[in-house]
Amino acid sequence: MDLGMREWCHAIPKIELHAHLNGSIRDSTLLELAKGLGEKGVIVFEDVKHVIMKNGRSLPECFQLFDLYHILTTDHETVTRITKEVVEDFAAENVVYLELRTTPKKNEAKGMTKRSYMKAVIDGLRSVDTVDVAFINSSRENCLESAVSSSTHGKIERKRIFIRLLLSIDRRETTEAAMETIDLAREMKDFGVVGIDLSGNPVIGQWETFLPALKHAKDLGLPITIHCGEVPNRKEIQAMLDFFPQRMGHVCCLEDEEWRRLKSLKIPVEICLTSNVRTERVPSVEFHHFVDLYKAQHPLVLCTDDPGLFSTSLSNEYYLVAVTFGLNKGDMLQLARKAIEHVFADNGVKQYLTEIFEDAQRRLGLQNMHHIP
Ligand code: IMP
Ligand code: ZN
Repeated sequence: MDLGMREWCHAIPKIELHAHLNGSIRDSTLLELAKGLGEKGVIVFEDVKHVIMKNGRSLPECFQLFDLYHILTTDHETVTRITKEVVEDFAAENVVYLELRTTPKKNEAKGMTKRSYMKAVIDGLRSVDTVDVAFINSSRENCLESAVSSSTHGKIERKRIFIRLLLSIDRRETTEAAMETIDLAREMKDFGVVGIDLSGNPVIGQWETFLPALKHAKDLGLPITIHCGEVPNRKEIQAMLDFFPQRMGHVCCLEDEEWRRLKSLKIPVEICLTSNVRTERVPSVEFHHFVDLYKAQHPLVLCTDDPGLFSTSLSNEYYLVAVTFGLNKGDMLQLARKAIEHVFADNGVKQYLTEIFEDAQRRLGLQNMHHIP
């Protein structure tokens, strides 16, 4: 198959490990929701229209937009709708495994609790009808059966996407609220919740506030990923490294000593190129720390962060890496496949994903590519 690099980056199977639900809303849906609330007099549509349409937002503007998202998506029905659409959009990008993260929210006016918010998310996963969605922990046997049926038995091919959920703690939350999220994650382990994320405006909140909840999650055996180093805060970055989470997002503002520690600890990094450039964490893709970590063979995975907010897609993030750093098709497929090692799902899912990649390698014509160690 003779595909150009952009088509190649779209065609290869991909694994998304850092995507926020509300940051992944389609622009068209956002405009529609804003218009609807404008008509009801909840917001002034003209005031928010330009924010929705704006390109190249700064970090404070992104958090302004997040506040808008949270006004627009405060009822169960909308949460269900955006979840469905987000999953369909990732599947259309040939994402075969998506770890979708979201902050469970309370909204008394709408009778919403953190639990009912998550139920609305699950309803969204259940309502996807354009692709097969696997989100409850599945046995290896089921995985293998589906891998075979979609690839070799000549049946009508239907896309399949594995979904796992991460519950986010927002840095605005209290220790008590964060604890509630951990308990909910434990309760929802059988509904595809595989871990915890710490996110939110990086200049708000203290590490000490979240630490008890994160320790509680660790004690429960829940894997953790942390937004780290979005702003230069040495004390916090060092405390996060000391905590030794399973993965870290961003890691932009580290000093030499912290880079050394990150590398020696081999903490896998969720790389979000467009997000970091748009929010001015790095001057350009060319100067992104991806290249240093990649050359050092540090574990990493390309992610979108907020494809809606930053007008990107996972295919586009792969393409940016390929053209900026001169990587070839085989390199890109290997990079995508390496992400299997960092998913929070069980070994049955990892085995299934390995087979998906081997099948893709055959289908896309890279039979002689050497095996990833
Ligand atoms: P939600 O958790 O589904 O509501 O997704 C949106 C939320 O994700 C935002 O309100 C932030 O708390 C968080 N978030 C998204 N992108 C970023 C980022 O780049 N840095 C920190 N937090 C983020
Ligand atoms: Zn993020």
